[in-house]
Amino acid sequence: MNTFQHVPVLLPEAVAWMAPAPGRRLVDGTTGGGGHSEALLERGATVLSLDRDGDALAAAGTRLAPFGARSILRRSDYREFPQRLQELGWDGIDGLLLDVGVSSWQIDAPGRGFSFQQDGPLDMRMDDRAGLTAAVVVNEWPEGELAQAFFRYGEEPRARRIAAAIVQRRDRQPLRTTAELAALVEEVSPRRGRLHPATKVFQALRMVVNDELGALEAALEAAPGWLRPGGRLVVISFHSLEDRLVKRFLRRCSSAELDRPEWPAPRPNPDHSLRLLTRRPVVPGEQELAGNPRARSARLRAAERLAGPGARPVGGGDELNQPSTDGEREDPER
Ligand SMILES: C[S@@+](CC[C@H](N)C(=O)[O-])C[C@H]1O[C@@H](n2cnc3c(N)ncnc32)[C@H](O)[C@@H]1O
Repeated sequence: MNTFQHVPVLLPEAVAWMAPAPGRRLVDGTTGGGGHSEALLERGATVLSLDRDGDALAAAGTRLAPFGARSILRRSDYREFPQRLQELGWDGIDGLLLDVGVSSWQIDAPGRGFSFQQDGPLDMRMDDRAGLTAAVVVNEWPEGELAQAFFRYGEEPRARRIAAAIVQRRDRQPLRTTAELAALVEEVSPRRGRLHPATKVFQALRMVVNDELGALEAALEAAPGWLRPGGRLVVISFHSLEDRLVKRFLRRCSSAELDRPEWPAPRPNPDHSLRLLTRRPVVPGEQELAGNPRARSARLRAAERLAGPGARPVGGGDELNQPSTDGEREDPER
């Protein structure tokens, strides 16, 4: 295992929105190197830290050991956080943090197969117990499904051409390594500009192999049922599809009423359970980007659980320190 390195993204902002304090029970669904968990623990909260990557969790365990019983670690997909809470006998939480995607450490570890910069097996699994690897997708999926995945998750304009080239190649010999795949993509789609031509294909494969959108959607849907009134949902995403999912979910759950042109009057929204805390996504400032260019596409959105139907018993009730909105910027995509 290489030395675990991951600079936590939007750290002060995420911590402020999570409102950690003694007596508050928080879940960090994407522990990675443990940077966010550590900051929450330093402010006195009790934190359940989850990750489906066993190596990441082991490294985080060492880092978080000084916090003793307030730090609880479990190897788990974050979509299963309700089961982990039930096992602990927790009937509600005061915050859920999701910093989705892969860590720098995962990308930089050649043996994990996430990177086209270094040769490694076509793996890309965050959880090495899972059955689906990038090699299986690339060598076994029908051409149409490959093209669809590259287009949908990678927004790759040459998706069809790349899928056809992969099928042609694998009929002769299966693709085994990240370097083989990157070279093949580069043949079909020559380099233009800054991005390596295989960037989007690798991103798409990673999202498929780990069902990243499926996990995010499931956790979002479960969150209001487990957050106590005043509890926070904070999501940092890096991909426009993920951010769109979060934005739509938060909009759906934070509107008091629903309206349609064919209705004579607006109707109460049965999903109304959250108050939106970030009207626009919070993005890294220039100082953070100067120190950590990988943070450039990060977007943070946050919401707070309202009291009301489906809410669990009231928790901590502590002072909430709100971050200023200085970090908020107009999002050019919106
Ligand atoms: C961007 S990193 C998080 C970094 C972390 N916040 C820190 O401060 O170091 C994302 C982490 O989430 C984990 N992860 C991604 N999807 C997951 C899922 N569905 N369930 C559990 N862990 C997941 C990855 O294995 C990775 O370690």
